[in-house]
This record gives sequence, structure tokens and C-alpha cells, in this order.
Amino acid sequence: MKSRIFVARATFPEVLERLSQHFEVESNQEDRIFSADELIARVAGKEGLIATSSEAITAGLFKANPTLKAVCNTAVGYNNIDVEAATSAGIMVSNTPDVLNETTADFAWTLLMATARRVTEAEQWLRAGHWKKWTYDGFVGPDIHGATLGVIGMGRIGQAVARRSLGFDMKVIYHNRSRLAPELEQRANHAQYVSKEELLRQADHVVLVLPYSKQSHHTIGAAELALMKPQATLVNIARGGIVDDVALIAALRAGTIAAAGLDVFENEPALHPDFLQLKNVVLTPHIGSASVPTRLAMAHCAASNLIAALSGETPSNLLNPGVSKRG
Ligand code: DGY
Repeated sequence: MKSRIFVARATFPEVLERLSQHFEVESNQEDRIFSADELIARVAGKEGLIATSSEAITAGLFKANPTLKAVCNTAVGYNNIDVEAATSAGIMVSNTPDVLNETTADFAWTLLMATARRVTEAEQWLRAGHWKKWTYDGFVGPDIHGATLGVIGMGRIGQAVARRSLGFDMKVIYHNRSRLAPELEQRANHAQYVSKEELLRQADHVVLVLPYSKQSHHTIGAAELALMKPQATLVNIARGGIVDDVALIAALRAGTIAAAGLDVFENEPALHPDFLQLKNVVLTPHIGSASVPTRLAMAHCAASNLIAALSGETPSNLLNPGVSKRG
């Protein structure tokens, strides 16, 4: 008999088709957003769950669903899953690393350039019919080429962001939990390891690419923003909660920093309403990995992890290798 699985969000039909060759699949192609209790009810009787970073996968869900053996997140980040509780419950957890590195790094640059060069602000002004003449100071911003790029979180995506700076003749500084091996620093446009404080003081453009955890909560708050140059920009493509949104709004209002580009927010999709009043912020709805090939690759990666997990193999991207699997 085939194992039963639940796919929590609408996905590519070809991925569902592939999953249905292995499993009895129940899916949410209508893409409803479930309450915690509804999600628990939909997972009832299933052995596998394919989730996204939008679903909170809690100890309560594991407790209420004793048949569940594997949760496969369709995201590299997995702060939405209580991995410790999953491990205690004997449930395998996986994510989708690597397949999205380059696409997400592309998007970091999209935001960096749009933010520094005030693209959305200028476009909104143009669309509103204000463009009557060219001026010397119209929508001027800082340069990107020749500037200093600061990357906080130098994992695979951070390194891909740094590599792209070569074409802009930039100096790269980075901060990370641990220093990279010299050959990786060299590949990342000769990135130099500095303290977080030094990075914030020196960088013209700061990009945040670190995972969210209790330790990285509010890595950037009022004290950190105060260290940055007034003409500097800040880009967050990582997770909401890494930046203190209230402190950032105050800094953008006061001109402590010039501008920010944000793809992620505390409490998303509900973002702080004051962001909408600010002109010096570029706002996007968590779309860092949103290219068609990459989203498809992520969906297939999660499917491969689940197929491995429920056929007694070790999923390639298992996050809790010490888990004693549920029988
Ligand atoms: C990720 O993969 O973590 C992206 O942010 C999508 O959630």
C-alpha cells in the first residue's frame, strides 16, 4: 500500500504527478491558508508532509499526528519548523539548499541596485505624471561600482552575492559565524573577514544573507543602524526578524541610513504599515527564489527528499541526521 502524504501548498502539477507515482497524495491546490488546527487535521493519517516556509510546523502538529514520519520544507530556511521537537518525535526534516543559491543572489542584486538607484521611487513619480523636466539632482543615489559591499552571512548564497560584485569593481567585506577558507574568500571577490561592527562602519551597501535563529534575532537594530554611514543602503533577503523593523523605520525616517531594500519582514505577510509611507525603501513580497526554474527545482528537491525518506533511505538534505526514525 502506498504511503499517504499531504502537500500543504499549491505546487507544480508535474511535481504532484511525480509524487503520486510513489504516494497517495492529498494536496491543497486551491492554496488555502490553514489555521494551526486545520493543518493538523489535514495532516492526520499522513506519513509525509511537504511544507513551505509559510507553515508553522510545531511540536503540537507532531504530537497530534503519530503517523507522520517526514516533513520536507520547500525552502532553504527552516525556522518555521521546530526541528528539535521533530527529532524528539522521530520525524525526519529536510530543506532545499543549493538549488536556489544563484537565483537568490541575483535577487539580492536586484534589490541592491533598485534601492541604491531609487528605481521604484522614480517609477512611481513618473507614473504619477510628475516628469516635466530633467534635473541634475533628480533621484540621485550612491554609486554601486567601486563601493564597498558588506555581506553578513557568508554561506553559499552570501558567497554567490559576493562573487557578483567582481563586475562592479567592488571591495567586499563580510561577517559570518566563522571565517571562510582562503580559497572561498578568493572566489568571493577576495572577501575580507571583519567584525560585524567594522562591516557596518565601512560598507556602502550591506546585504543580509544569514539564517534566522534565536541568535540572529535583531542582528540589525537601532545600535547597528547607528554605526552605518548615512549614505549607506541595507538589503535583507534573508528572513524577517533579523532586522528590527521598528528600528529600521526610525532610521529610514531620520536619515541614519539612506535606504533599504526588503524582501522579508517581521510578521510577514503583514508588514509594518509605516514602511508603506516611506519613499526610501523598496519592498518586495518574499520573492528571492522566484524564478520559474528555481521554484520548480525547489519543489522537485522537496519531493526527492520525501521519496527517499519514506522509502527507508536518507534524504539528501536531512537536517536532523541523529533522528531515530518512527517505525
Ligand atoms: C527560502 O528558501 O528559505 C526562501 O526564503 C523561501 O522561503
